[in-house]
Amino acid sequence: MSAVSDQSRAVLLLNGPNLNLLGTRDPAQYGTTTLEEVERRVTSLGEELGVEVVCAQSNSEGALVDRIHEARGWAGVVLNPGAYAHYGIALRDAIDAIEAPVVEVHISNVYAREEFRHTSVTAPVAAGYVAGCGVFGYELALRAVLRRDAERREAADGV
Ligand code: DQA
Repeated sequence: MSAVSDQSRAVLLLNGPNLNLLGTRDPAQYGTTTLEEVERRVTSLGEELGVEVVCAQSNSEGALVDRIHEARGWAGVVLNPGAYAHYGIALRDAIDAIEAPVVEVHISNVYAREEFRHTSVTAPVAAGYVAGCGVFGYELALRAVLRRDAERREAADGV
């Protein structure tokens, strides 16, 4: 369990398989920015917006599921599921099982690529979806998570 000072102001930035290779993996699709740099940018945007960003990456679906469970009571999750978006039913169910909003990110425009990338089993249960904006999409997704979280808290308070 990641120790965060205030769960309601914590966001998980979670990257799936092969995204640890960002920077050198297929730069035509994913650019040359490393995962470390993405995490630095999102963490620093989080500081500006008053949230603590916890960063994690795994190449296995079970570990991603565990991380999502840990973020249950948090403000939300920015998730690039990598290839698990296309067939990861356990990951899909984990997103569906938590109340915190999960915004799905794809760096590349998956709809301009191979047909198997056009299906996402995770998107229907995500609170939002960003694709094709490059690594800037992670920053958009963080803003979207916080907006969704504010909306659900307002709805719960009957505002
Ligand atoms: C990706 C797109 C997926 O199809 C692919 O398997 C990835 C990266 C993206 O960020 O564009 O690993 O999620």
